[in-house]
Amino acid sequence: MPNLPRIAIEHIADAVGQEVTICGWLRQRRSSGKIHFLVIRDGSGELQAVVNKATIEPGYFERSAQLTQESSVVITGIPRAEPRASSGYELDVVTITIVQLAEPFPIQPKEHSVGFLMEHRHLWLRSKRQHAVLRIRHEIIRACRDFFDDRDFTLIDTPIFTPNACEGTTTLFQTQYFDQTAYLAQSGQLYSEASAAAFGNVYCFGPTFRAEKSKTRRHLMEFWMVEPEMAFAELSDAMDLAEGLLKMVIERVLDRRRNELTILERDISKLEAVVPPLPRVTYEDAIKLLKEKGVSIEFGDDFGGDDETVLASSFDKPVIVHRYPASIKAFYMESDPEAPNLALCMDVLAPEGYGEIIGGGQRIHDYDKLLARIKEHQLPEEAFRWYLDLRKYGSVPHAGFGMGIERVVAWVCGLEHVRETIPFPRMLYTLYP
Ligand code: 4AD
Ligand code: MG
Repeated sequence: MPNLPRIAIEHIADAVGQEVTICGWLRQRRSSGKIHFLVIRDGSGELQAVVNKATIEPGYFERSAQLTQESSVVITGIPRAEPRASSGYELDVVTITIVQLAEPFPIQPKEHSVGFLMEHRHLWLRSKRQHAVLRIRHEIIRACRDFFDDRDFTLIDTPIFTPNACEGTTTLFQTQYFDQTAYLAQSGQLYSEASAAAFGNVYCFGPTFRAEKSKTRRHLMEFWMVEPEMAFAELSDAMDLAEGLLKMVIERVLDRRRNELTILERDISKLEAVVPPLPRVTYEDAIKLLKEKGVSIEFGDDFGGDDETVLASSFDKPVIVHRYPASIKAFYMESDPEAPNLALCMDVLAPEGYGEIIGGGQRIHDYDKLLARIKEHQLPEEAFRWYLDLRKYGSVPHAGFGMGIERVVAWVCGLEHVRETIPFPRMLYTLYP
């Protein structure tokens, strides 16, 4: 490799006028007799490199002519400002080394079917849009971690092999664990509750698994969730925390990933509107609102994806819906002392049809009440022995929530489907690649 400072394309402005090395792949080549224009991407950005027959040492010009799309190259050259270039810079090439000459690349700058692109996901990741989406995903994840770390929440990782269901028994992925049956975690929550009693404010952040037999644009079988849990906290604390988290996520993306939002042609004004306070409505009022809009729904029904879309369309920022009927919610939810048929829970629904991005609330902290719920839901008591234990030793009101990263990425990026929000999506009929 040439003995010159290697630089990432996104930092090219720092190297104007100095000879540097760039390592990357050829996105595209245009040639005009005596000049080759090579668009190089290196993962951090894109830059046009100019190979000029008149000034380059012999051999390099001919070598550049062989370059196919996605060939890997090491280039030395001198960057200069070029106002006409989209990045604002161009590189005058001094030497070029071909690391590998790529075979014809399956993905061309034309329309491909979604099926074809999914089948080639390992290569599709290199495209400009996918790159933008996944950089935004990274920024969102970083914002979540910073948000909790800055507030002194302790990161406590939770297990993936578990003996019990957290979010209902219908979406469990079952697996063999030597001579026992195990399930892949649907949520880290139950373990985060144990962690909260040890560390106060905690969060877990990891992959979660649900055998969702539905083929919607919002469901994945494997998705990432960030889940804070707070001891000595109630529903309203969870709502405040969710509001603060969303504020930080949106601010960060607007601040650091504007280029990527532009590549995705995202309407930025929609994101700029996301300023606290977020509207808060009760489930009961939400039902009234839906009825007013002509939706046929009754108190006691759960919201379907379409209902969430209609509901959220009344607001230009995410809306917090709280106090759903306990009958349609998970077993662990605390009931409202004012109306025991309601759960002290909340969902945050994103605008523009993206649906539920956050779900959470206050947990039952009374031993007998929790035991009764476990029985009502016909859950195996033995597997929940440790969870019940938490209610015996210094039990306190506690609350938290889970935010699905892919749903948030889909909303922030303005995507049609969650399949593009995760590098290798696991969907109903997609396990390859
Ligand atoms: O509402 P859910 O099921 O809540 C829980 O799992 C709680 N135990 C979290 C907690 O309180 N600690 O899921 C939380 C979020 C949803 O709001 C949604 O954003 C996302 O996880 N989610 C999914 N994302 C993609 N594909 C799926 N199949 C999802 N299921 C839930
Ligand atoms: Mg939910």
